[in-house]
Amino acid sequence: MSNNYDESNIATMEMIYGEGYLSAGGDREVARIFSGVKVAGKSVLDVGCGLGGAAVSIARDLDAGHVHGVDIDQGVLSRAAQLVEKNNVGNTVTLCHIEPGPLPFPGQHFDLVHLTAVACHFEELDTLIDDIFRVRSLEAAWSDGTG
Ligand SMILES: C[S@@+](CC[C@H](N)C(=O)[O-])C[C@H]1O[C@@H](n2cnc3c(N)ncnc32)[C@H](O)[C@@H]1O
Repeated sequence: MSNNYDESNIATMEMIYGEGYLSAGGDREVARIFSGVKVAGKSVLDVGCGLGGAAVSIARDLDAGHVHGVDIDQGVLSRAAQLVEKNNVGNTVTLCHIEPGPLPFPGQHFDLVHLTAVACHFEELDTLIDDIFRVRSLEAAWSDGTG
């Protein structure tokens, strides 16, 4: 089980990027990424959820039906759990430790898949993208209905 971020790393990252984030942009970037996408009521997979900032924002600000945050690092997941509790989104956000490799979900299990600053951790980008399309529903998600 990996544990790549210590308290000092996390404190530095959060000082730069904001509470719950290990990458730039914060809640505003999450809103920008999902602009034009129907999120309300949908099930969302957050791959490499880190400290949970995006998972919380997707639940709290975008009103997702369910957010499933997964990460290979138990340390950041523990911190994400604290953020979920602090924001009272425990009914909507589930956090789960996974091993590196194929996403451990059946096909078309989620409506939407989100990841930020995670793809760079994968050696086989094609495999990751194929896996994301495998677990994502084929149903149209854009708010204008174009797919
Ligand atoms: C730079 S951090 C970004 C975290 C979060 N998405 C954010 O933007 O704040 C990258 C995250 O991806 C996770 N990660 C790396 N490889 C992974 C894999 N194969 N599956 C799931 N998560 C992974 C790391 O543990 C880390 O939490």
